[in-house]
This record gives sequence, C-alpha cells and structure tokens, in this order.
Amino acid sequence: MKEKKKVILSGMRPTGKLHIGHYVGALENWVQLQNEYQNYHLIADYHVLTTNLDTSNIFNDTIDMLIDWIATGIDTSKSPVFRQSQIKEHTELFLIFSMLITKARLEKNPALKEQIRDLNLQSITYGHLGYPVLQASDILLYKGEYVPVGEDQVPHIEITRHIASLFNERYKLENNKEIFPIPEPKLTKFSRLPGLDGKAKMSKSLGNTILISDDLDIIKNKMRKAFTDPNKLRKGDKGNPDICLVYTYHKKFNATEQTDIYNGCSSGQLGCVDCKMKISEKIANFFSNIREKRKELEANKEKVLNILEEGESKAREVAQKTMSEVREAMKIG
Ligand code: TRP
Repeated sequence: MKEKKKVILSGMRPTGKLHIGHYVGALENWVQLQNEYQNYHLIADYHVLTTNLDTSNIFNDTIDMLIDWIATGIDTSKSPVFRQSQIKEHTELFLIFSMLITKARLEKNPALKEQIRDLNLQSITYGHLGYPVLQASDILLYKGEYVPVGEDQVPHIEITRHIASLFNERYKLENNKEIFPIPEPKLTKFSRLPGLDGKAKMSKSLGNTILISDDLDIIKNKMRKAFTDPNKLRKGDKGNPDICLVYTYHKKFNATEQTDIYNGCSSGQLGCVDCKMKISEKIANFFSNIREKRKELEANKEKVLNILEEGESKAREVAQKTMSEVREAMKIG
C-alpha cells in the first residue's frame, strides 16, 4: 500500500504583492516540498486584524499574494489554497483551544513581546494575545505535521504543540485514538534576505523590498539606492563583500559568478554601480517567467477566484471532518 503523505500546513498573512525575500524564505521551499508532502496553503486574513483593523485592503492584498503564489509554481490542484476567514471551523476550534491554554502561557510568547516593542503598542487586544491559538487551529484542523517557518515563528509552533497535547490528553475518540499530531517547525535554509537599506530583513513596512513583480527598470532604480560597504566610495576602492547586502543577492541569484564578484569587489576592479546593474539583471531574469505568469493571471482574475473557491471547498471538507472528530471526542456532537 502506498504510504500516506505527511501533511504540511504553510501560512502567510495577505500583505499584497510579495517580495523576493518571501520567495527565498518561503515560496521556493513550498514549491519544492509539494510533491513529497500533502501541502495546505493558508491565507491568514483574520491574523491581519491583530495589528490593523482597517479591512479595506484585505481582499485585494489576498488576490495579489495569491497571484504570486500561483505564478511561482504552487500547484493548486494538489495543494489547496484558502482563506482562514472562509472556513468557519477555524474560529470554532479556536474557541475550544482558547479554553485549554492559560493566559500566562500566551503572555510569555516572545514573538508577541517583540511585536509590542517593534510596533510600540501601548496595549493589546484579547484577540492579539490569542492569535497563536488561532494559528494552532489553522495547523491542527488539517492535522499538519510540519509547518515551514522562519526562526521568528518557532514560539508559535511551540504553542501549537502545547495545545495539541493538552487536547489529546483530555479528549480522545472511542477507540482511545488521539486526534491531533504534534507538529514540528520546518526551518527554511536560506531563511532571509537583507533589505535594500541594509536592515537584516526585507519587509513591506520598512519599504526596503524588491517585489517579485518588479521589472528590470524598477529593480535597477531600487538597486541604485542600495546600501553597500561605506568604505568603498568609488571604483578602484577595495570593498568588503562580506558586509555588503548586494553581495548577498549575488550569492542567491548569481551563484555562478559569485567568486568573480567577490574578487572584483575586494580588489577594487569592480565598481558598485556595475555590480548593482549586474545583479539587477540577474534578479529580473530569475523572475521573468514568474512575472509573465503573474501578468496572465492578473488579466484573468476569474481564474484566480475559481482556484481560491476550489481550494476553499477542499479545505472545508478536511476541516469539517476534523471538527466532527473533535465534537465526538468532546461529546458535544
Ligand atoms: N502567524 C503567521 C504570521 O504572523 C501567519 C500564520 C497564521 C501562519 N496561521 C499560520 C503561519 C499557520 C503558518 C501556519 O505571519
């Protein structure tokens, strides 16, 4: 008998058009994993509300992000794509899980503390404190065994593991069968790309991104302003590629010429402008097929909406099955 594929649940907040850091840190990995695993791709639209109550862009941002997912090669016939908000079982399981985990455990979450600090929040809502519980329901409704995440999301997976064991210990099916797996994080190898301003992370809110959809001219313009070794002022000056973010991009998108770039920069023969123009071309080429595909999809929104609808109906079926097991085990069926 063919062995059942292990389940991966990957999720992202809908932040609109994705940047190349998303590609390197997540999408590339998702595409590679889709044959070996059963993948579910969740659009965490309710999670947006934790930090932004203005809902006017959520739908458009969802579609823009979804177009990037599909254009990158997510095979939606195998791996359903769906919005958290359209499958009511997420909120149902979230409520039950909320009864199991203590407030103190949620307050200890280091990822939350970081958000409070970074966003300079004076107070947080009940829902914001509980968002890892919603994330646990996202993962466990599909019995996700692995969750591809960056380092910063690991505390959330720990909360999911905690909730899954609390539930399993207390409620079992008739045959003593436990309902939920204890999921593990699956860390991405090359998990982040630095931003154009030299900050460690590319991020929409920092305005330091190159988008997957950017064409050569846009990339060149953005790259001109990219931060490089401050001691290399002109061609001829010796640079230090190890502290240059442009060199990091070469490592990822121009691996074959990486050594030449390194030597050229350190000897002074290669100037920053030439180096930047070269990597701009490499990046634009790397994403050219994806850009074409995304243009086609943009011109055919109906197709994108159909894919989403199909994904949501597949996901709903799985979610309903899990919820009926939960109700059975809890005897609230
Ligand atoms: N919490 C994630 C974020 O803030 C998004 C997310 C929601 C998620 N549900 C998920 C990620 C499930 C992985 C699995 O970006």
